[in-house]
Amino acid sequence: MSKTYPASDEFIANAHVNAAQYEEMYAASVADPDAFWAEHGKRIDWIKPFTKVKNTNFEFGKVDIKWFEDGTLNVAANCVDRHVATRGDQTAIIWEPDDPKTPARHITYAELKDEVSRMANVFKAQGIGKGDRVIIYLPMIPEAAYAMLACARIGAVHSIVFAGFSPDALANRINDCGAVAVITADTAPRGGRRTALKSNADKALFDCSDKVKCFVVKHTGDQTTWVEGRDLDVKAMMADASTDCPPEEVGAEDPLFILYTSGSTGRPKGVVHTSGGYLVYAAMTQELTFDYHDGDIFWCTADVGWVTGHSYIVYGPLANGATTIMFEGVPTYPDAGRFWEVCAKHKVNQFYTAPTAIRALMGQGPEWVEKHDLSSLKLLGSVGEPINPEAWNWYNTHVGKGKCPIVDTFWQTETGGHMVTALPGATPAKPGAATKPFFGVQLEVLDPATAEVQTETAAEGVLCVKDSWPGQMRTVWGDHERFMETYFSQYKGYYFTGDGCRRDADGDYWITGRVDDVINVSGHRMGTAEVESALVAHETVAEAAVVGYPHDIKGQGIYAYVTLMNGIEPTDELRKELVKWVRTEIGPIASPDLIQWAPGLPKTRSGKIMRRILRKIAENDYGALGDTSTLADPSVVDDLIDNRMNRA
Ligand code: PRX
Repeated sequence: MSKTYPASDEFIANAHVNAAQYEEMYAASVADPDAFWAEHGKRIDWIKPFTKVKNTNFEFGKVDIKWFEDGTLNVAANCVDRHVATRGDQTAIIWEPDDPKTPARHITYAELKDEVSRMANVFKAQGIGKGDRVIIYLPMIPEAAYAMLACARIGAVHSIVFAGFSPDALANRINDCGAVAVITADTAPRGGRRTALKSNADKALFDCSDKVKCFVVKHTGDQTTWVEGRDLDVKAMMADASTDCPPEEVGAEDPLFILYTSGSTGRPKGVVHTSGGYLVYAAMTQELTFDYHDGDIFWCTADVGWVTGHSYIVYGPLANGATTIMFEGVPTYPDAGRFWEVCAKHKVNQFYTAPTAIRALMGQGPEWVEKHDLSSLKLLGSVGEPINPEAWNWYNTHVGKGKCPIVDTFWQTETGGHMVTALPGATPAKPGAATKPFFGVQLEVLDPATAEVQTETAAEGVLCVKDSWPGQMRTVWGDHERFMETYFSQYKGYYFTGDGCRRDADGDYWITGRVDDVINVSGHRMGTAEVESALVAHETVAEAAVVGYPHDIKGQGIYAYVTLMNGIEPTDELRKELVKWVRTEIGPIASPDLIQWAPGLPKTRSGKIMRRILRKIAENDYGALGDTSTLADPSVVDDLIDNRMNRA
């Protein structure tokens, strides 16, 4: 039996949801989703109230997901305007800069409304309107939130590209969604270094239509090139713009944003989230999972370039009238105490981060935590990958001082918000387990081979969801077939997460990791196929196969097997060159950690690469390769084992 950690009696007494309420609400949410979500749909303000709640179909070939479909609203008005009357002077966003010597900024709801409206007017003046796509390629600065909300205000659809992505990755996304504009910044300070974002955008725009406008936030004041007629100084334009910009009325099912994410095949796909259901779900999960109370200071350390930043830095907290922190920097700059310094400085109440960050900081020793006063903390959260027991214990002991409940939240870009998580007043934490489904989420564990639903409580298999929830993605941008194929074709009638899981005898869910060719590097999702296609685009590479392997800090590292073109000499220089190449093609997060020269790859007689074998060798577990007799040339395996790179 795993040890469990319930919250204190005092925490439970003050919590939004206790154990009995969870049971009752969960039962209601699955017994009558229409009634349940009709009630919770009232969390947000509607311009025209919905009369229909759920209209969803998971049948392969006919997948169609609509929530609150006849309602109309404006998301920015929900996140900003509606709070101005009651809490205009309350801080909405605390911006903590990369350099701790630069003062933090506190942006009130009233100020936020003005800034968002000004930016919205700047967009409008350039002809951007309802349904147009705008790419946001910004660092973690307030303008990133303004840009998201400005788009929402005018009904434009934003797509954030993480500032760590390369010009190529940016260009692909601009072109895929047919964006009319990009908003970027001159340079982006991070950990004391600066990324030349505008120059990346310049390179990307070279491969895009010359109609695409480029808004530039002059953030650091660093010199950049300037293309007259295309580049626009957004801060200067905002200074001259009106603060009056009536929010556009949009349908509940109008898209709010597109966010590109990696899958097991092909290019990243544009995950589409719509307005009404997404906002209801982001708001509800932010309040209940973190037990957020009015006046609390909430800090999610993610970047707005990932879904976690969308739902839990911007939309969820602001819809709830919360105070949310936006941090420009990194956990180890100027030293390994930065997270805790920021917690102490802003008296953070709920702190939400990824296991990879915890592991990295754990390695620096607890003295970096002890230096800072963390008495304001009430709750800790984890997201992005399974949290290992050492990291959980360290987080609990040194950061939470044994008094903060820890919520381990399992979810995905596709799900919009938390799917499996403890609710702190209701569910005792169990280190390593994501525990229980959120309201309305009907999980099933299926046998991966037979697709049979596992009816015993204790079970193992793949994690599927039986019915829709409001935060679910609606489609892949421009490719509904791909949406159905990716998520609804393998297990008919279910949404397939791509994750394996175990359900224990208490009915708690443990996520065991991806069962497809997606790897999780430092909590970032990476398709092995993407790294492979970057590698084979190099002139020296004939073939490449990429797999994950266990990595102490990153969770998984990227292990690449590379077959060179005939006559090319495998050298250390070439290895470095290939790493650099992948960084340029995709971005630093895709850099291979290990590259093994492979004279041949293990293939079946029909030419399929046997990744199972490559994974085992990368894991240094080559004693358990299983049956290799179906290989076209079994001898390649011996060579790969002899020259394996991960001999930890
Ligand atoms: O494998 C699961 C893992 O991250 C994947 C989703 O990645 P992404 O769309 O980038 O979203 C990350 C943040 C929501 C999942 O398929 N994952 C996410 N959270 C957890 C997790 N694995 C285990 N435990 C978690 N709490």
